[in-house]
Amino acid sequence: MQTLVTPASPEAIRQAGQLLRQGQIAAIPTETVYGIAADAQNGGAVGKIFAAKGRPQDNPLIAHIDSLAMLDGLAAPLPDPLAGQVQALAAAFWPGPLTVILPRGPAVADEVCAGLDTVAVRMPSHPVARAVIAACGRPLAAPSANRSGSPSPTTAADVLADMDGRLPLILDGGACEVGVESTVVTLVGAPTLLRPGFITREQLAAVLKTPVALSPAILEKLREGETARSPGMKYKHYAPRAEVTILQGGLEAFAAYAAAHGRPGDYCLCFAGEQASLPLPCVAYGRAGHPEEQARALFRALRALDEAGAVRAFARCPGQDGVGLAVYNRLLRAAAFRVVKL
Ligand code: TXA
Ligand code: MG
Repeated sequence: MQTLVTPASPEAIRQAGQLLRQGQIAAIPTETVYGIAADAQNGGAVGKIFAAKGRPQDNPLIAHIDSLAMLDGLAAPLPDPLAGQVQALAAAFWPGPLTVILPRGPAVADEVCAGLDTVAVRMPSHPVARAVIAACGRPLAAPSANRSGSPSPTTAADVLADMDGRLPLILDGGACEVGVESTVVTLVGAPTLLRPGFITREQLAAVLKTPVALSPAILEKLREGETARSPGMKYKHYAPRAEVTILQGGLEAFAAYAAAHGRPGDYCLCFAGEQASLPLPCVAYGRAGHPEEQARALFRALRALDEAGAVRAFARCPGQDGVGLAVYNRLLRAAAFRVVKL
């Protein structure tokens, strides 16, 4: 299959809508990361996403909508207080980088929910994503547009690097603003954060007027046989080929560790501006203390390590407050939970 990369012009968006209506898949930009879209009501089309990504069949997808009207049928009729909670979250954060897990309705293909009785829904804010949903006229299932296991793509070139020959069309909408995938919160049972993102746990709690629990899978490796509430959490994720180790501590101790342990082929995954203080070649991911910047830069930086041929990388440790929790969660998985306290 030939893969066409094209700027997301009105004509290209119209073509993408038509392809999707015909049961094909296409990569589209969103404000978080690029996604591979398919008609969420067409099981055959959704199956093509799993094949293109090499994604395990039991990992469900997010249905993307462009209006609250599209929620009808995707989710089951919502009882109180659930309806009020969804309304409050939608008013505060949609369109935007928030995914909500709800009881599933009939108007979504089984393949999207991967056998669960819940459905993940998000209304993206990226104008191209919204225009493609409108052009197709259906909710779009869309996981991140990477090969399963590798870092999510934040540019059309990164999508092409993973997906060349595996899908017909990539719409280029430039670099993604947020850089990490949407926050995932379940409202089935006590509100619980399943995946941290740009919308923080504190923001969710303020709008819901109730505490939001933290899924243990965010900061800990699941034990063998343990079930994840968000199936995606159990898979190896965001991993570059380089072996990443997070070093927890100050810059001086980091530099000393890198000098003592560094071998040819090793890199520092550092904060912007620190390169001159470090003894190894560096790839930077945003400035220290600026988690939004780190989120925007992290996945590109992980891919840059591989492009540079890095064998190992010592990573500076981000903060864990606010958006920092999303950055730390992704880096922890990229590092396969290898953390050294300095
Ligand atoms: O920002 C994003 O959310 C991007 C863009 C493309 O919109 N999409 C994305 O999709 O990150 P994906 O498939 O890479 O991640 C979806 C996550 C997975 O961890 C999956 O297990 C979880 O959401 N998920 C989906 N449906 C679920 C459900 N019904 N219950 C619990 N977790 C669910
Ligand atoms: Mg993903």
